[in-house]
Amino acid sequence: MLRNDPLEQWDRGHFIHPSTHLAQFARGEMPERIVTGGSGVYIEDREGTRLLDAFAGLYCVNIGYGRQEVAEAIAAQAKELAYYHSYVGHGTEASITLSKMIADRAPEGLNRVYYGLGGSDANETNVKLVWYYNNVLGRPEKKKIISRWRGYHGSGLMTGSLTGLALFHKQFDLPLPQVIHTEAPYYFRRPDAAMSEEEFSAHCAAELEALIEREGAETIAAFIGEPVLGTGGIVPPPAGYWEKIQAVLKKHDILLIADEVVTGFGRLGTMMGSTHCGIQPDIITIAKGLTSAYAPLSGSIISDKVWSVLEQGTDKFGAIGHGWTYSAHPIGAAAGVANLKLIDELGLVENAGTVGAYLNEKMAQALADHPNVGDVRGEGMLCAVELVEDKAGRAFFDPGKTVAAKAVAAMLKRGVIARAMPQGDIIGFAPPLCLAKDEADEIVRVTKEAVEETCSAL
Ligand SMILES: Cc1ncc(COP(=O)(O)O)c(C=O)c1O
Repeated sequence: MLRNDPLEQWDRGHFIHPSTHLAQFARGEMPERIVTGGSGVYIEDREGTRLLDAFAGLYCVNIGYGRQEVAEAIAAQAKELAYYHSYVGHGTEASITLSKMIADRAPEGLNRVYYGLGGSDANETNVKLVWYYNNVLGRPEKKKIISRWRGYHGSGLMTGSLTGLALFHKQFDLPLPQVIHTEAPYYFRRPDAAMSEEEFSAHCAAELEALIEREGAETIAAFIGEPVLGTGGIVPPPAGYWEKIQAVLKKHDILLIADEVVTGFGRLGTMMGSTHCGIQPDIITIAKGLTSAYAPLSGSIISDKVWSVLEQGTDKFGAIGHGWTYSAHPIGAAAGVANLKLIDELGLVENAGTVGAYLNEKMAQALADHPNVGDVRGEGMLCAVELVEDKAGRAFFDPGKTVAAKAVAAMLKRGVIARAMPQGDIIGFAPPLCLAKDEADEIVRVTKEAVEETCSAL
């Protein structure tokens, strides 16, 4: 039933919301929320409801809401020069400064940045650069990209294909044939409960190697993975995983793209997630935390190894035929510079490590013994609670029961926003990196109450 409210009617009548049941929303069968403000870890809607945002928007508002330093940097840039393009050698002070700041924060050997607007288009760029790389090297057949089931890399044509979640493929004719998927590093869902983490990592590496051998290493260009799986369930890698995977990739001359859209700039308690996980990538995808979502901006950080081939390519073929109008947009770049400065000044990388560990520890203490909690896991300022029907037998709920979605709704009633992850009954947490311990306590208290209420009603 639609209220007599023009804003709601315009919303339901004209605005197509992403990741939404379009028909139910348009018919007014599901609630809308019009968000009007935010401060620290809280947002506020136009009804005056204040909510603790334990997912930082979409794991992106890392510095928290309402930071005037970034807002002022954006305003100053808009007044001085709202836009100029970055084609054929043009730049702005902000985009050049930001490139140096990113290179200073990236792992050694990654020194150059190509900019986009969001994580999806950055990964789209990565695939094109990897294809270009192999064409320059005279290996035109080496083009397939391996991704993991449950990986999330965007929702474009190529990036939606890389994403290993059924929802993003169904009815969209995806994945495209250049993309193949391998085992998710998901220890809780390992095929054999008796496996140790190291054994499961060895199993994942063996599965990867078998896939490479089936397809032929000469046809495979790159492997893409998030240091810690995000949207696929917030799953830290099992012990030894990245070491074993990288050994296989190296052996078969396959490039490694670390998708750090979630983990970049502090979320794991280190500036970059690759460092935290012992990954030496050839390309890193960055977005979200680069500007804390104060303005849209993403990037591909390119290693010296890949860069030297791109240089050879342009010497051979001329200017590279790849560009977006808004690449390195000055307003996004100004937001990025101010955001990265603020992250340093406020010690947010360190805070993500300490308060993130506190959140994970308290969540496990409060929930791990509940009969319907199969797993409590996390890394840095990422945490997940996975709900199961039967703990001992690792039996999952019928997805139709939407148990995690109900628990998240019960949390919302109590003033905390968490996210029901899209595949499995998993409650996800990715709060702003400025979260304080008493706010972490509040998240845990509300989660426990909501899980108890939801599970006892089943
Ligand atoms: C790891 C990862 N890569 C890529 C993306 C896509 O980013 P965007 O939604 O900005 O296109 C996301 C979004 O959540 C992500 O989590």
